[in-house]
Amino acid sequence: MGNSRKTYIVANWKMNFTPGEASIYLHKLSERVKGARDLQVVLCPSLVSLQPLSLQVSRRQFKLAAQNFYWRDFGAYTGEVAIAQLRGFVDYALVGHSERRHIFCETDKDIREKVAAAVRNDITPILCIGETSDERLMGETDVVIYDQLLGGLSEISKEDIDKVIVAYEPVWAISSTKNARSAAPEEIEDAIKRIRTHISKLYGKNIAEEISVLYGGSVNPSSAAAYLNVEGVDGLLVGGASLIADSFCDIVEIAKGVEK
Ligand code: PGA
Repeated sequence: MGNSRKTYIVANWKMNFTPGEASIYLHKLSERVKGARDLQVVLCPSLVSLQPLSLQVSRRQFKLAAQNFYWRDFGAYTGEVAIAQLRGFVDYALVGHSERRHIFCETDKDIREKVAAAVRNDITPILCIGETSDERLMGETDVVIYDQLLGGLSEISKEDIDKVIVAYEPVWAISSTKNARSAAPEEIEDAIKRIRTHISKLYGKNIAEEISVLYGGSVNPSSAAAYLNVEGVDGLLVGGASLIADSFCDIVEIAKGVEK
């Protein structure tokens, strides 16, 4: 990459681990993962573990992220948690993950409001975008990426766009998707080029070069180096492999060894 952008390794634990299990896991990670300059390790526990982990975590070593939240700051929304309530616990939040889009039917409007709410509350949204396998087969990858970027970022001004991270996660490569297959590095490179081209159209060339773009989808210790070496990739969003401490620590170690 030739610049000093940070590399992000993000663990998406999804709906796994009780608070007790999450605490033991964090303890294990804390002993094994040594921080490095220009490397940011981010953990996304389930909501119920965020508060206890925020007391346990060393923020110099790891940052925490919310997997989900509601975009209004307060009000009569039974069962929801506002991102304003997560201030102080998290520095990042996933938005637009394919499971939220496809299982929970989140719309572009929901995603746009969430990105804006995160930025408004000084929490960095990690905007996840990516096409399904049918969309790819129909040649719609570019238009899906564009629509999801436009949909997710339309409330975000040029002044605020540096507070956003984008993650390219093709749905067909996410390990929980039926018949998932690993993406080839060339497929990722092509999609990330398209993402930066669209960002350039929306916000200008400099921002397109500077914005952090992560890759996610079946990342494991065997594929991490190849994915991190893809031109334009600034880090990894790891689901399944982040549930196994050894695998996740290996991925973090690999990231330290990859020159950006
Ligand atoms: P996976 O999940 O690494 O298990 O494919 C990635 C994600 O859903 O963020």
